[in-house]
Amino acid sequence: KQEEKIRPQSIDEYIGQRDLKEVLTIAIQAAKGRGESLDHLLLYGPPGLGKTTMSLILAEAMGVNCQITSAPSIERPRDIVGLLMKLQPGDLLFIDEIHRLSRVAEELLYPAMEDFRIDITLGKGQGARTQSLKLPRFTLVGATTKIGALTSPLRDRFGLIQRLRFYEIDELTQIILRSSELFRTEISQAGAEEIARRARGTPRIANRLLRRVRDYIQVKNHPRIEQAIAAEALSLFNVDPCGLDWTDRRMLTVMIERFNGGPVGLETMAASTGEDAQTIEEVYEPYLLQIGYLSRTPRGRIATPAAWKHLGYEPPTQQLPLL
Ligand code: ADE
Repeated sequence: KQEEKIRPQSIDEYIGQRDLKEVLTIAIQAAKGRGESLDHLLLYGPPGLGKTTMSLILAEAMGVNCQITSAPSIERPRDIVGLLMKLQPGDLLFIDEIHRLSRVAEELLYPAMEDFRIDITLGKGQGARTQSLKLPRFTLVGATTKIGALTSPLRDRFGLIQRLRFYEIDELTQIILRSSELFRTEISQAGAEEIARRARGTPRIANRLLRRVRDYIQVKNHPRIEQAIAAEALSLFNVDPCGLDWTDRRMLTVMIERFNGGPVGLETMAASTGEDAQTIEEVYEPYLLQIGYLSRTPRGRIATPAAWKHLGYEPPTQQLPLL
């Protein structure tokens, strides 16, 4: 089914992230040339930019399997031991949200990453003893939205650390054109660009918006996605011309109306909007920072004059400090 092929299957099909692709192409060729597995790889950056996709592509390129899991689901020692014991030589193990690993899981992972062994404890109390088990060589691919939250011993065990960046409009346009073809949906270049501009630099959002616009033209009996109808559909879905959705606008509005633009602390923002602090920090803020609507200061977040104007407010004139 075409819906499943929406993820690119190879590096050549993968649009954008040029530097990352170049680094990984070299790593793949070198590892293959030596007949070895890939070095452990840490991918970081905002959600939806293609970390899981890239991991699947790497496994495909290396001709190995990719086991996918996320840190919250391998909290207990037995979870991680079970997972590691299942690996075949050369396999990729993808751990999403790796900054959320529990202490025990993290400590089991150190010798696994470094020496391909795990130390397990058998029995309880007086009779307890530890046993070292050998593992096949494998590649850990860790993904995180928050590299700063990783402990340094964990971070230091990755041979490659790569950041994914937000996509440019032209890259998102290409992604949308490609997806439209898979969906067998007619679209104009300007129609694709209209969706791309509202996709917050993020392919996952671009494809989600494309699905909504595709529904809309189908129901309105339009043969093709043109710019005007894409804009009409997306404003109906509350996605504004910059791609801000209801929650983005609400965050900025709360900062402006209740806190005169800030600075506002993260916890205060969470309490005032009813959103989870971690979600605000990892999902909403990165794009608002990227487009310059938000800035971070030691005393909290500030809504910039551009954000005031975008939401139809008059930014306060700069107050000069009184002498
Ligand atoms: N679909 C989602 N992300 C993509 C990318 N980076 N390249 C091509 N298609 C995609």
